[in-house]
Amino acid sequence: STVATSAEGAQAFPIPDNVFAETVTEVRHYTDRLFRFRTTRPASFRFRSGEFVMIGLPNAERPVFRAYSVASPAWDDELEFFSIKVPGGPLTEYLQKVKIGDTILMRKKPTGTLVIDALLPGKRLYLLSTGTGVAPFASLIRDPDVYEKFDEVILVQTCREVAELAYARELYDEVANHEFLGELAAGKLRLYDSATREPYPRQGRITDLIDSGKLFSDLGVPPFDPATDRAMICGSMAMIKDTKDRLEHFGLVEGANNAPNTFVVERAFVG
Ligand code: A2P
Repeated sequence: STVATSAEGAQAFPIPDNVFAETVTEVRHYTDRLFRFRTTRPASFRFRSGEFVMIGLPNAERPVFRAYSVASPAWDDELEFFSIKVPGGPLTEYLQKVKIGDTILMRKKPTGTLVIDALLPGKRLYLLSTGTGVAPFASLIRDPDVYEKFDEVILVQTCREVAELAYARELYDEVANHEFLGELAAGKLRLYDSATREPYPRQGRITDLIDSGKLFSDLGVPPFDPATDRAMICGSMAMIKDTKDRLEHFGLVEGANNAPNTFVVERAFVG
């Protein structure tokens, strides 16, 4: 096994054989609560867009691992992650201090339910997220497969503050301006974001926007229809439960990898 530089830089620990040790290539802080980082990608690491992996730091004899959705698409030669900063969090307290050149540990097996294969074919795909729950969707909206399978892809993100919406806005622009994704996504990808604790053109929780019908009228689409619409949900436990209730009210049914249906859910991970 090799030896890595820790986030603190002071001490180095051996890297276990069952994990990849990757190098941080970019770090970007959006707010005092959110940041993203990119790392090198092991040649042998394969995943499906929307899946998550266990991430840790080589700064302890027994590293703390937390689940992180891979935010980059399957074709990207780097990996991207979007993270919350939890004060005193066993991992994020240290992870938020990573710098270019630091080592990140990654368990070798990706998994997760927010994958296109867990949905039945449909016309309109809703990607419903709050906060860092947008991460798996950052991967999916950069995957050409999504645009081959759906006529319309609606990325929804609600955050407390306007500054927290910047990551998804940037992604949307990146896709729109990308040399080959741009063409695939043109007329298909739509961004619908809202803030709950600051003034913004669209305000309120996703659940309230569904209940009032404002989500649909703003988008100019009919309400959720299990015949045509598919959805993925990623947020806090409470957000998942409340959003799932709405989808079920409209007749959508939760699916899984081994039993595809009209919507799937996954918790946005914290640590
Ligand atoms: P609110 O500001 O009204 O709490 P958090 O950072 O706490 O995970 O919240 C991210 C976003 O998710 C916030 O805009 C928050 O709204 C919203 N939210 C929190 N709980 C729910 C829920 N049960 N259903 C829908 N949205 C929620």
